[in-house]
Amino acid sequence: MTRDVRVHVALPGEEVPAGELAFETNAGGALISTTFRYTEAWLRHPACYALCPELPLVTGSRRSTGPRLLPGAISDTGPDRWGRTLLFDAARRAARAGGAAMPSFTDADYVVLADDRTRLGNLRYVDPATGAHLAPPEDDLPTLVDLPDLVAAARAATAHEPVDDAALRLLVAGGTTLGGARPKTSVRTPQGGLALAKLPAADDRWDVQAWEAVVLQLARDAGITVPGFALHRVGPEASVLVLDRFDRAATGRVGYLSAHSLLEQRPDEVVSYVDLVEAMGDVAQDAPAQRAELARRVAFVLAVNDVDDHMRNHGLLRGTRGWRLAPMFDVNPWPREWPEQSTPVAAGGSRTRRDVTELVDSAGAFGLTSDVVRGIVHEVDEVVRAWPRVATSYGIEDPEGGVVATAFRVTAP
Ligand SMILES: Nc1ncnc2c1ncn2[C@@H]1O[C@H](COP(=O)(O)OP(=O)(O)O)[C@@H](O)[C@H]1O
Ligand SMILES: [Mg+2]
Repeated sequence: MTRDVRVHVALPGEEVPAGELAFETNAGGALISTTFRYTEAWLRHPACYALCPELPLVTGSRRSTGPRLLPGAISDTGPDRWGRTLLFDAARRAARAGGAAMPSFTDADYVVLADDRTRLGNLRYVDPATGAHLAPPEDDLPTLVDLPDLVAAARAATAHEPVDDAALRLLVAGGTTLGGARPKTSVRTPQGGLALAKLPAADDRWDVQAWEAVVLQLARDAGITVPGFALHRVGPEASVLVLDRFDRAATGRVGYLSAHSLLEQRPDEVVSYVDLVEAMGDVAQDAPAQRAELARRVAFVLAVNDVDDHMRNHGLLRGTRGWRLAPMFDVNPWPREWPEQSTPVAAGGSRTRRDVTELVDSAGAFGLTSDVVRGIVHEVDEVVRAWPRVATSYGIEDPEGGVVATAFRVTAP
């Protein structure tokens, strides 16, 4: 069976029909290929660009099979574990209530089922039969007033406790589009903009959102671009991190590409920061500045021991002349005594005990001298040293007494 979907790109002031997708499933309902072709309208548009490296700007169709069944630009717009769970749960309940068979969704189904209003980036999907955008919103987005109810609903959902229909509707209204595994939802800000609210999970061992705020503050102080953010205390143990959506601007939606898609990363393939900086060099607008910013981010990731720094936690935004790094996001301190596999600085580098000397040794790949990289590391370290004071300012009690304290080791080379 084949399902056809049109792809529109939202550019400032216009929405351009840019491509046609065909998702092919086998008799068992599994996705077996995706075919994509650009429209002539897109190929002739003065602002056209390749949506991802797998979809170069050429006429004719390209069929994706094998390990990367969805081209990166398409897969980036779909939900990951959290959003998929919500979509599946809502569909399962509807099927039960209507006496229908249990639903079964492919990766492609999840992409088009997720809410159009909050979808990441500037792609919009259109049903060729009706001309309608997929998927139209059903409920109003939550607002900051709903944060306590969202916290309670996310806690119940992540504890596998019963979530009533009203709570599920609240989570589903804004929660189905963005990737990641942790509970989250898009919310409407008092000014009418879009924000992302990161919520607590039932089995959190510390106040994850508060520590993420601490680290974002430190990153900003270290000269790294971060989204606008605010920490909302909802109860003594519960806080919500509300981040401005960086893929929405006054001019509308902004294109997004994950580093995972830029690198065409295959499942289980290990890529390094040097791989990323090299791939960025080919497509970045103002590449030297982007490379230096990435070097600073790597120095920071090492200083706060962010081990969840896989390539879906790095991304690019579409500028007028190319791609530039999206503000840094999902950076979290992790105790050093619990080693985790993370992104190596360079190919073959350590994944559990990364060291800034690896960054200094890779300076050339970032277009910098080792002295400049040493300077960056020093600046970052000086800022990160202030972590206990910043943690206290975000309401974390006795930050130096908890296990997270071991994340912050500051050593200048
Ligand atoms: N401020 C933001 N604006 C727009 N999109 C964002 C923002 N922060 C994160 N995202 C997108 O949402 C996804 C999930 O967010 P993330 O913070 O990584 O959540 P998780 O902790 O569950 O991994 C990211 O991979 C990124 O694509
Ligand atoms: Mg993430």
